[in-house]
Amino acid sequence: MHHYISDFRKHIGHEVTVKGWVINIRTSKTNCFFDFRDGTGFTQCVVSLENVGEEAFEAAKSLTLESSVAFTGILIRNEKNLGGYEIQVNKLHIYHLSEGYPITKEDKEMGVDFLSDKRHLWLRSRRQWAIMRVRNELIMSIHDFFQNEGFVQMDAPILTGNACEGTTDLFATEFFGRDAYLSQSGQLYGEAMAMAMNKIYTFGPTFRAEKSNTPRHLSEFWMIEPEMAFYTNEDNMNLIERFIQHVIGRVLFRCRTELETLERDVTGLQKAATRNFPRIQYVDAIKILRGEMDYNGKNCIQAQKDDLAAIETRLQEIEADIKARQEAMPTLSKGQVKFYEAKILALQSEQRDLEEKARNIPKWIESALNFEDGNDFGNSDETVLTRIFDTPIMVFNWPTKIKSFYMKEVEGNPDYVKGVDLLAPDGFGEVVGGSERETDINVLLRKIDEHGLDRNVFEWYLDLRRFGSVPHAGFGLGLERLVRWCCNLPHVRETIPFQRRYGRIEP
Ligand code: 4AD
Ligand code: MG
Repeated sequence: MHHYISDFRKHIGHEVTVKGWVINIRTSKTNCFFDFRDGTGFTQCVVSLENVGEEAFEAAKSLTLESSVAFTGILIRNEKNLGGYEIQVNKLHIYHLSEGYPITKEDKEMGVDFLSDKRHLWLRSRRQWAIMRVRNELIMSIHDFFQNEGFVQMDAPILTGNACEGTTDLFATEFFGRDAYLSQSGQLYGEAMAMAMNKIYTFGPTFRAEKSNTPRHLSEFWMIEPEMAFYTNEDNMNLIERFIQHVIGRVLFRCRTELETLERDVTGLQKAATRNFPRIQYVDAIKILRGEMDYNGKNCIQAQKDDLAAIETRLQEIEADIKARQEAMPTLSKGQVKFYEAKILALQSEQRDLEEKARNIPKWIESALNFEDGNDFGNSDETVLTRIFDTPIMVFNWPTKIKSFYMKEVEGNPDYVKGVDLLAPDGFGEVVGGSERETDINVLLRKIDEHGLDRNVFEWYLDLRRFGSVPHAGFGLGLERLVRWCCNLPHVRETIPFQRRYGRIEP
């Protein structure tokens, strides 16, 4: 029998046995202090010569980073320790002594390429542990939401004969002598199932062969795609809002430790979980982006200029602070020097981030001011547009030209389609894309041709418009982008256990 750290609450004052891995070691003549993880949580284990005797104490001293071991001892509460507990060990059993564990320092300092190469081990780090748990909570909350709303989960095929989101980023393969592709989206199959079940959602892997090396693009990612019969795009937007509020609310409620570990400031998430999301038509969004139109008294271009001014002030402060600290160095004690050096490193890191922002903002402003009607938003445009909002926003009624063939045209205005994108705040950008679907077979046929797609492979899809065609709508949520936003991460690569993206298929 052994105990899990996640259950420690119930065992305070009693003897417990934990099985896991050593993550930090401090030793003195008579004591070894181990930071320890078992995957369910973290604790400190103290092995003292007095409690365990000489032989076991020597064994404890031989333990190395990521050695696997069982500790038995009395559990006490100790707020100061990692995890808030301490085990006063009276017995230990070593499973395996690890040699030369490659990840020694805090994640960040080792360089992300190195850590990505060692992803199979990096997953053990505290931050990664927290991210994977947030991911898990999001997955479960997504299922809960849809199951509670009466949706039926469906599995769409991964090998497909047709494109859904345009032909440019398909991963091609071969299927017994025929052309086939890895699915970019389960949507078209979801539409078929919605006609059988009314409300469905898919939850599966999707593939995009874009050669995009950006913080938000993966080649293999997980998408959740609900599809609802008899829904308009307005119904769709109502659902997106409630859905996102629900899953964010769940993470805030159930992942406090994880969010704290990630040092995630949760005020933005709290707003997303409780407030309505502004809904803005594309034609207005581009005016807001170009600074031609204010929203609630705020102006996008002015906001960037204000940010830039604030950054410049802060950079001056940092420079002065670093200089003062360097000058004070010779007069300091050893301990103070260490503290000052750490502080300077932190300031320099902030300085680098801010300098990069200060370089970017003028380019972003330039791009926003010159944004042309009918274009799709680039990353920077999304960042500039969302800056004046403190919740996600929904941009709807997009130009027909830049959206997929299946989106329904706006009545009387075929240059626009009833699509909607949810843009997350703080530069996280598009997290959800959805639309009301075209129901008229003739319009669909025309658009399949216009998009240069092969009518034959869509025959089955067209049947949905031949037999009891109904208004319907749906959307796709990119799981990794949602995790990235919730965890406030610089890149999606850390949001999935093993990233597959342009330039990386290993490990
Ligand atoms: O906007 P997208 O391409 O829409 C669809 O695939 C529709 N079929 C969805 C639907 O209506 N059922 O993709 C939907 C979402 C995006 O908003 C984004 O969050 C995510 O999928 N996504 C990606 N995530 C990571 N890496 C990529 N390369 C992604 N491409 C899209
Ligand atoms: Mg999209």
